[in-house]
Amino acid sequence: HTPAFTPTPPVASPPALPSDCTFDPADWAILARHWYPVALSREVRDQPVAARLLDERLVIYRAGEEVVVARDLCPHRGAPLTLGRGDGETIACAYHGLHFGAAGACVAIPAHPSAKIPARMTLTTFPTIERYGLVWTCLRPDRPATASPDPTGQPGTNIPSDVVIPRMPHWDEPGFQRVTCPPFDVAAFAGRQVEGFLDVAHFAFVHTDTFADPDNAEVPDYTPTPTEYGFAADYWSTVANYPRGSGLEAPPGFRWLRHFDAHLPFTATLVVHFPEGGRLSIMNAASPVSARQTRMFAPIAKNFATDQPEQAVYDFNLRIFEEDRAIVEAQRPENLPLDPRIEVNIPADRSSVAYRRGLRALGLSHFFTA
Ligand code: FES
Repeated sequence: HTPAFTPTPPVASPPALPSDCTFDPADWAILARHWYPVALSREVRDQPVAARLLDERLVIYRAGEEVVVARDLCPHRGAPLTLGRGDGETIACAYHGLHFGAAGACVAIPAHPSAKIPARMTLTTFPTIERYGLVWTCLRPDRPATASPDPTGQPGTNIPSDVVIPRMPHWDEPGFQRVTCPPFDVAAFAGRQVEGFLDVAHFAFVHTDTFADPDNAEVPDYTPTPTEYGFAADYWSTVANYPRGSGLEAPPGFRWLRHFDAHLPFTATLVVHFPEGGRLSIMNAASPVSARQTRMFAPIAKNFATDQPEQAVYDFNLRIFEEDRAIVEAQRPENLPLDPRIEVNIPADRSSVAYRRGLRALGLSHFFTA
């Protein structure tokens, strides 16, 4: 006797969480509603690019004008598509050669060249947008993606009309040099890395080989103010931002304004006001690879020394982030404690306190899986 065969219903959507998720499931669901960069635009060319976001393995490729971000999983037999090859219009899976193109649709099955392609033979794709030299995506948008064009006119595909990509000050202004630094990998939680970017009391201890003054550790008072997506802080100090050893000096009494803007959960921008109207704008866009791994992307815009070779901008920026690395990777607990009883604050920590308050307001609790 053979029992009747009951076909299982098709899987309509991907599992709620990546199978090896390192995040607390409730926190993952909140974090997955936000947009993060996953690759440099310039590195996504003909061949598939691998990335990982919130433990989800992704493949990124170009299909003509479109950049596709999809789960790195062939719907045929589960081979990673990042093992395959691309031609600028499609990528071919390394196992049986199925081709996938725009919107993740299968366009060719070499074993059956004239057969109809099953509708379900499609990659699970995520909305994408290119901005600041980066490919951004969102794993669980609040609203289903539509085919409406990006309201800002930037290249992108399937963008919900109310998409919120963090704003990068000065990026679109004439007279600014735009540089998108190579990503920087940190073996630490994204919140720790972002907090380090917002911290103003560490310059005299961590950054003395690059720009800071070991004899100027005092932190003037400052007050973060809430914004639509986080908070902002204007921090005035006499710590110069000129590279050490450059011989450059600010006019006597010059106070440097550092304008911080935190866009929760993991992006922040800093605009440093130099003498004579100089502006340096840095975005710290921390992409949470997993709970313990972060890929930080840093677009930079500046209106001085605009013919500086890009490599020199990369190199100086990298030195500063390398100085932070040793601390950020060693901090404990590994998550960012949102329980105010765990740490002790000093007045210089007002941004860090505002950051924790903002993350709590998003509904986040402790980030890491139990
Ligand atoms: Fe990808 Fe078969 S597993 S084509």
